[in-house]
Amino acid sequence: WGKEGHIMVCKIAEKYLSEKAAAAVQALLPESAGGELSTVCPWADQVRWHYHWSSPLHYANTPQVCNFKYSRDCHNSRGEQGMCVVGAINNYTEQLYSYGQKTSYNLTESLMFLAHFVGDVHQPLHVGYEDDEGGNTIVVHWYRRKTNLHHVWDVSIIDTEIKDFYNKSMDTMVEALKTNLTGGWSDDITQWENCENKRATCANDYAIESIHYSCNYAYKDVEQDITLGDDYFFTRYPVVEKRLAQAGIRLALILNRIFDGDKVDD
Ligand code: ADE
Ligand code: ZN
Ligand code: ZN
Repeated sequence: WGKEGHIMVCKIAEKYLSEKAAAAVQALLPESAGGELSTVCPWADQVRWHYHWSSPLHYANTPQVCNFKYSRDCHNSRGEQGMCVVGAINNYTEQLYSYGQKTSYNLTESLMFLAHFVGDVHQPLHVGYEDDEGGNTIVVHWYRRKTNLHHVWDVSIIDTEIKDFYNKSMDTMVEALKTNLTGGWSDDITQWENCENKRATCANDYAIESIHYSCNYAYKDVEQDITLGDDYFFTRYPVVEKRLAQAGIRLALILNRIFDGDKVDD
């Protein structure tokens, strides 16, 4: 996602944090965050080229197939296992379990990376095809503007919604998503939160969902140089809204499990 997508995911997550998790997040946030998790959620994109090793941690790609397999798809360009968005979520989650103990990890950075990558794994094209770099090399026109398919899903659909539906206000869009979570989506949340894995996350499942949305919605009926307009926008924006909401709920779930759990098993 772009900056706005990440902020919205984290504003939703903040609302669903338990008391203990909210307190731990407060303690870990840098001074500059002003006590709000959402302000640090775009941070990983700012350090993406400075911490060059972190660049592949934003995504995972498949060999042009509509399924995700960790052992096949979660690696960087040097073939190092775990160096993808799913491995990163599990790694930073594991680091955060050392909260309250003596640790050499910078848990402030672990939290900022985790909050960003849980957002990214829900952007369908962050689990896309290797050949087109998750849509980055597919040139399209978004209405009259030239861009690429990846950017349409990171930014353009959200921008068009904010402009056309939400009075140019991201906060109004966040409020609408929160309202939907207590209304139309309220019966779905239990299923979104269904994750049997005790200490690891269910990021692998979220990646599988994303490649399915990529195949069935993002890539569907798209080719080089195509113009995407109302037909595409009105059939795809509901997917974007659902993925932002799911990301927020699941980020809260992961943080609540980390910081609420009894620490007996270490
Ligand atoms: N670079 C290469 N593949 C990518 C993807 N799926 N998402 C974002 N950046 C990428
Ligand atoms: Zn992206
Ligand atoms: Zn990212």
